[in-house]
Amino acid sequence: MTEDNPQSRRTVLKAAGVGGAMSVAGCLNTPVDDDSTANPANNQTESNGPAPAKSVDTDRVAADPTELPDPVDWSSPRHHEVEMTTTEETAEIEPGVTFDYMTFDGRIPGPMVRVRQDDTVTVSLTNDESNSMPHNIDFHAVYGPGGGAEASMVQSGETATFKFKAKYPGVFVYHCAVPNLDYHISSGMYGAILVEPKDGLPEVDRELYFGQHEIYTDSPAGEKGHHKFDFEAMKAEDPTYTCLNGEAYAITGDGYGPVTVDKGERIRIFHANGGPNLTSSWHAIGNVWETFYRDGAVASQPDHYVETAPVVPGSVAIAEIDTPVPEPIKLVDHALSRVARKGLLGIIQVEGEPEPEIFDPDPA
Ligand code: CU
Ligand code: CU
Repeated sequence: MTEDNPQSRRTVLKAAGVGGAMSVAGCLNTPVDDDSTANPANNQTESNGPAPAKSVDTDRVAADPTELPDPVDWSSPRHHEVEMTTTEETAEIEPGVTFDYMTFDGRIPGPMVRVRQDDTVTVSLTNDESNSMPHNIDFHAVYGPGGGAEASMVQSGETATFKFKAKYPGVFVYHCAVPNLDYHISSGMYGAILVEPKDGLPEVDRELYFGQHEIYTDSPAGEKGHHKFDFEAMKAEDPTYTCLNGEAYAITGDGYGPVTVDKGERIRIFHANGGPNLTSSWHAIGNVWETFYRDGAVASQPDHYVETAPVVPGSVAIAEIDTPVPEPIKLVDHALSRVARKGLLGIIQVEGEPEPEIFDPDPA
């Protein structure tokens, strides 16, 4: 890698796992300094760089991967009330780079909904009165017009409600499905619903929930300032950022920190791909998908020991992994330029005593 471009060097170092040394402490929680980012000297490579960074409405849009509902512990059909609010808010993709996001409940991916097959669900979608655009929600777990999109279309200040029965098991994407749906998804409007089969899922020690999607902006990745949405780049499917949980490198030492687990835990990972356009070549550096449910199709037999798996836009994969040695497990899209240059990386840090019989970094 060349070192003449500080930005690419920094991101490559992050991908190599040494990014902690390069971290910009506190930046993600510090309001953007308009004066410094507006300095033309910061934008020398562009004839007219991005607009000055905006002040942020929220410090964070990246969902915490450990926040998801507990496994189903009931054995007959239930009814659930699910309330969600759409937001339009400015936040940082990475330090100094602001973007006008759209979300469900202020988080990317949106909150996981978790029910059991044959449960019923009433969904109430509220479009916050501060918003300027209409929104709705399309669940891939729903038999019905637009997966609920038509019934849930809301203008700002409105709430719409619909009810459905979760007839089939699996884990499914939900997303905004207004006419400019690719724009809304790329701005952050997607999440997952898990419909557990009647017999439930195998017990594991821990579950994690991640979401991948891409952002198309009018400026190069890493260039400080406010990045406006770029419809031409989206049409060309040429994103500026590919994100895990909505921001660049959010779940690493340079963002909000890795997820820490204990050696020996078996972990189930839900990986939602909102897209709107790119298929993920989903891979865990230093590990393997011990059990893999393609498209989250839990009614089908899973595959085993899968190295890299396609997760297509509009689907959620499930993988279960074992953690026999201490290490940072790096969750990536193996289209690796998205990792080195566009922000897609998350880390599960496995802690515990070394296991030299399995891995010995320094054999005598
Ligand atoms: Cu929307
Ligand atoms: Cu869809």
